[in-house]
Amino acid sequence: MSKVDVSKYFKPDLKKARKRSGNTIKEVQFGLSDAYQKIGVNKTYMIHTYGCQGNEADTETMAGILELMGFTKAETEIKSDVIILNTCAIRENAENRIWGELGRLKAYKRQNPDLIVGLAGCMAQEENVVERILSKYQHVDLVFGTHNIYKLPEYIETALFSKERVIEVYSQEGEIVENLPKVRNHHFKAWVNIMFGCDEFCTYCIVPYTRGKERSRSKDEIINEVKELVEENYKEITLLGQNVNAYGKDFSDIDYTFGDLLRDLDGLGIERIRFTTSHPHDLDQKTMNAMRDSKHIMPFFHLPVQSGSNAVLKKMNRHYTKESYLSVLNQLKKTVPGISVTTDIIVGFPGETEDDFLDTLDLVEKAQFEGAFTFVFSKREGTPAAQFFDDTPESVKKERLYILNDRINHGYLLGNQRFLNRTVKVLVDGTSKKNDKVLAGYSEHNKLVNFKGDPSLIGQIVNVKITVAKTWFLLGELV
Ligand code: 5AD
Ligand code: SF4
Repeated sequence: MSKVDVSKYFKPDLKKARKRSGNTIKEVQFGLSDAYQKIGVNKTYMIHTYGCQGNEADTETMAGILELMGFTKAETEIKSDVIILNTCAIRENAENRIWGELGRLKAYKRQNPDLIVGLAGCMAQEENVVERILSKYQHVDLVFGTHNIYKLPEYIETALFSKERVIEVYSQEGEIVENLPKVRNHHFKAWVNIMFGCDEFCTYCIVPYTRGKERSRSKDEIINEVKELVEENYKEITLLGQNVNAYGKDFSDIDYTFGDLLRDLDGLGIERIRFTTSHPHDLDQKTMNAMRDSKHIMPFFHLPVQSGSNAVLKKMNRHYTKESYLSVLNQLKKTVPGISVTTDIIVGFPGETEDDFLDTLDLVEKAQFEGAFTFVFSKREGTPAAQFFDDTPESVKKERLYILNDRINHGYLLGNQRFLNRTVKVLVDGTSKKNDKVLAGYSEHNKLVNFKGDPSLIGQIVNVKITVAKTWFLLGELV
């Protein structure tokens, strides 16, 4: 028996989260009722974001809702009335870091008992996390998950005025909520959600449980959002989804998939279109052709492979082989010449042998990736792979990661070197982290470029001639 009475809380259930209903997903419009409009006046908030771009986009929505309620952004934690951690559950080390942060906030709560401490995002969708908060983290006032952000006004009101702990996590997705307010973090680059959830169920991954069933936003809502961004002078959008290549496959009334969306967005007047993330199994020729024919879709593709071993890929439930991945990749490179491709790779998946790992290295060599996010397998409670037999010592896994990173870094360098003496278009982000006399931005192929220039160029797309290629960045001169 749990020591605390949890019967009044709405808690997550990972088994329920696994279920996929055949129900059609409805669309509803967000509206803030009068009762909540002034709750935040003279109060401040702070949100800390962890994990993927999906979370960054969700934070912009939470900030939008809070500001609509009258809250303003706090300068410091000590001056905040509400602090929310928007969390990531993808690997254990991400979670450990967040537990540490949550512990750290206890001191602020002691100094200011009226402070509301909230936990949101993917961790909130996990049963064991909510149990731990209930029993050991009494200073956390508010827990809500990824499916009910739109209910934030109600939760904040209860937490502020009735001083009750609010714990409400839905195990399954509901409607798609449109018209949500946003405070965008950036003035010329914007996230645009095109779909939510994931139905792939890779055996190592917690995301299909924390983000629910795959569901696409209507094309009209997406197009309207992008048109507004064009009017507001945004230069670059990044379309977001766990598997953008599955966009539209859930529509029952129209035949409209990712390639169609890319073509429609290309004509709206936005300078740069990017997207993330993709699944090789769903990447189709229609998408590649849309990229080939477009003016504004950037020649860059993040195509996670995860492993080069067919045995491991099968155990991961990835639905492709090393050979079929390479064939899709070659088709992509043929259709969009010069495209830059990056990937994600996991080493030390349960049962991965030395030969399996060598297959991954072989694939890396053949694929000529220009970058990768590489990870050691992390056991996620509730996923099938957490039960798989795993006898590879951690030290061997770390060594594999080290060897792999070395190869990947070589690919990074080769990818940068191909731009030497070429003039590239750079969207200027700001000044370089190391030197404020130097500007930094990204090229169309997503390469970091540093060059001398006036800060008035920030937010513009400029031509830069590349003079030096390093592993992690390019140096150039404004032309
Ligand atoms: N362990 C290690 N890496 C993981 N990823 C997802 N789940 C796990 C896990 N349990 C990686 C995958 C995915 C990226 C976002 O995170 O490579 O593509
Ligand atoms: Fe996780 Fe696989 Fe879905 Fe990506 S495609 S979010 S790795 S289950």
